Amino acid sequence: MSIVLNKKEFHQEPYEFYKEIRPHDAFAKVKLVSGIQDSWVAFTYEAAEAVLKDERFVKNPRAVFPDVSEHELMPITHSMLFADPPDHRRLRSLVQRGFTPKMIQRLQGRIEEIAKIQVEQMKGKETVDLIADYAFPIPIIVICELLGVPPEDRLDFQRWSNSMVEINDDPSFYEQVEAHMKEFQLYIEQLLAEKRIHPQDDLLSELIRAEEDGDKLSVQELYGAIMLMIVAGHETTVNLIANGMLALFTHPEQLKKLKESPSLIDGAIEEILRFNGPVEFSTDRYAKESFTFMGKQLQKGDHVLVSLASADHDPAVFSEPDKLVITREKSPHLAFGKGIHYCLGAPLARLEGKIAIQTLLNTFPEIQINTALANLEWRQSFVIRGLKEPAGEIEL
Ligand code: HEM
Repeated sequence: MSIVLNKKEFHQEPYEFYKEIRPHDAFAKVKLVSGIQDSWVAFTYEAAEAVLKDERFVKNPRAVFPDVSEHELMPITHSMLFADPPDHRRLRSLVQRGFTPKMIQRLQGRIEEIAKIQVEQMKGKETVDLIADYAFPIPIIVICELLGVPPEDRLDFQRWSNSMVEINDDPSFYEQVEAHMKEFQLYIEQLLAEKRIHPQDDLLSELIRAEEDGDKLSVQELYGAIMLMIVAGHETTVNLIANGMLALFTHPEQLKKLKESPSLIDGAIEEILRFNGPVEFSTDRYAKESFTFMGKQLQKGDHVLVSLASADHDPAVFSEPDKLVITREKSPHLAFGKGIHYCLGAPLARLEGKIAIQTLLNTFPEIQINTALANLEWRQSFVIRGLKEPAGEIEL
């Protein structure tokens, strides 16, 4: 297919494109950005699930391009998200300890406190920006506290992580990304130097101990793990909260239902994840060898992605997929991925989303969106589906 997807019109209304392509191209080759190689993309639920579960699609670029130099790779490439077994298991199990459902449940009180502080700061104002004033600070403060990094530096993290997930055709784009990565790496170096002298009861100090143990984590893997969690913690749950509120505003009968029956919140979070989840495309995968997949001939090294957003709107699995229905009975959505790379932060994201939306609705029951929908602009990213800042103003 010769069209280039990374256009404003695509990001403004991707679901229309998916609706057209799914019936005749479950798994198709498309050009995401001009000037780079085409990518295979899974558009149907069946194809998406098949890619995510098939070990012939590898994550580590070095598995298919052995000549790729260290210089060409970003530090985050040394994290679990870009690793294959057996490295993947080792890297994931080191971080997993901080993310068990039990550990996350213990954070509930603190997340509630943070959400309350944010709503207190909003009281007395007539309108606020949904992302900057509410959806952004909550998950960022939580992840910073969990890792043990200073939440005051969050605007720097936001700048660096935006660089990794947004993509454009600007000739200086890759230079900018490289410059941001250098700043990010320098920051982590300084943070680690400080933590090595004064370890604390946080995930970073625990990872440093694993690195100092010698054979558990290399220094590059330590950088990769920290970067991955800062980026994952900054780019995702923010949009669960913001996309979720937007979905409720555009389905007033569902919003009313949720306000009348707050116990529907768990189902509402699952439906928001399905309806307009924060991760639109999976991260990169590569064909480990040449083989036929869904009737298409793949060559070793071919770039493969999964459109989680398209899969989650596939009418073969979800009835009336383009409607938000918070009481949907069963929702096997792929918003957190599937298989060995299934999102490690899913229990945390669900809890944060639930507390954030509940606190907002309880505190401001008359809350309304104040921006015309046509004026909302979506970010130019394939990984992240989220509104550009300043996002929708809300009236309290
Ligand atoms: C992986 C979605 C929040 C940490 C993933 C993947 C998805 C995803 C789809 C798999 C990507 C792939 O297979 O290519 C989401 C969504 C979130 C969210 C929708 C919020 C609503 C978080 C948070 C954290 C986190 C808060 C914690 C810091 C991770 C990690 C991985 C991952 C570490 C890699 C797992 C692995 O490779 O084994 N996430 N995520 N995520 N996510 Fe999340």
